[in-house]
Amino acid sequence: MKNKLVVATSTLVAGAIAIALILRPSRSISPRPELGTPEHIPPAARAVIRSRMQRHGEQLGNLVSRVVVLDYDGAARTAGEIYDEPTLARPLTGDELNAVLPERFFVLQDELRGEARRLVAAAARRDSAQLSQEFSVLTKTCISCHDLYLHGTADSASGTPPGRQPPIE
Ligand code: HEC
Repeated sequence: MKNKLVVATSTLVAGAIAIALILRPSRSISPRPELGTPEHIPPAARAVIRSRMQRHGEQLGNLVSRVVVLDYDGAARTAGEIYDEPTLARPLTGDELNAVLPERFFVLQDELRGEARRLVAAAARRDSAQLSQEFSVLTKTCISCHDLYLHGTADSASGTPPGRQPPIE
């Protein structure tokens, strides 16, 4: 008798688990962040650009976790990977990319590499203050370029802070 009850209870529990598994939301939150789709970029050009950008998000995630725990070697290695990432060549006149990407895009691309290189140097010197400074400059470049890409104006992506905040007393 007691045995039957145990079997019945465990069947019930198993059933409840099965139902919970079936009803669980089929799509959990996307693990990868995605940038929106700019309307002014034709799909073919976008595919080329996209193929170069997909690893950046992953690399920044790695970098931030290395930098915050002052893992200098890990930070240097990850920044080195960002530096080594293939870049989009500046288009020739008349090239399709030329029509859709402003010159500022390529400037920002160069800046990102320069910052990655300086970050490697700061990590190699074990200079934590410089490391955090370079990291924040590098992140600003990511945002500037995405802003430029999405909205297509160089002005919105100047990268210069709009005036300093007054110090809090
Ligand atoms: C020179 C410009 C430029 C710079 C600098 C840049 N990105 Fe991007 N990034 C892009 C563009 C353009 C796309 C969108 C490609 C597309 O249309 O899917 C993109 C897409 C992304 C995506 C979304 C990928 C996806 O699969 O949808 C992530 C994440 C990302 N970038 C992270 C970064 C990070 C982090 C940095 C800085 C370390 C960075 N990017 C620097 C231009 C740039």
